Amino acid sequence: MPDVTISHLSKKFAATTVLHDIDLTIRDGEFFTLLGPSGCGKSTTLSCVAGLERPTTGSIAVGDRTMVDTAARTFVPPEGRNLGMVFQSYALWPHMTVAQNLALPLRIRKVDRRRQATLIGEALDKVGLAGMRDR
Ligand SMILES: Nc1ncnc2c1ncn2[C@@H]1O[C@H](COP(=O)(O)OP(=O)(O)OP(=O)(O)O)[C@@H](O)[C@H]1O
Ligand SMILES: [Mg+2]
Repeated sequence: MPDVTISHLSKKFAATTVLHDIDLTIRDGEFFTLLGPSGCGKSTTLSCVAGLERPTTGSIAVGDRTMVDTAARTFVPPEGRNLGMVFQSYALWPHMTVAQNLALPLRIRKVDRRRQATLIGEALDKVGLAGMRDR
């Protein structure tokens, strides 16, 4: 993934400022951890990167692509960012099997069925869950 560049990122919820003018660059290939007490704004920062929250001010770019820039009124919606996010609380469809949950984003991207089966098999193998695909 290209560099992620966060500039002057601030986020307010009503009167409460949660993110205070953050500048941060995450380099291509870097494994980066946000560490801090509960409520310090880790999830809010990730949600701004993913496009689930709109910053109050600031900009976020991935490579040379600006995803959000409040000054320029740029906002790429989450589905246009080509980013993945794993939520703190699991976000699975309870009426779908494991394999169907994994297939959903692939279906939305119109990946053909055979390729879906390959990708789902690889993902489950990687995390040791191959036996759970039909749960
Ligand atoms: N939609 C919202 N409306 C109002 N306040 C919010 C909203 N989302 C988050 N907050 C507040 O913003 C602050 C930061 O929350 P956030 O979820 O980013 O913290 P966190 O660092 O991820 O915490 P945790 O370690 O508990 O996951 C908290 O005070 C939280 O109550
Ligand atoms: Mg959190």
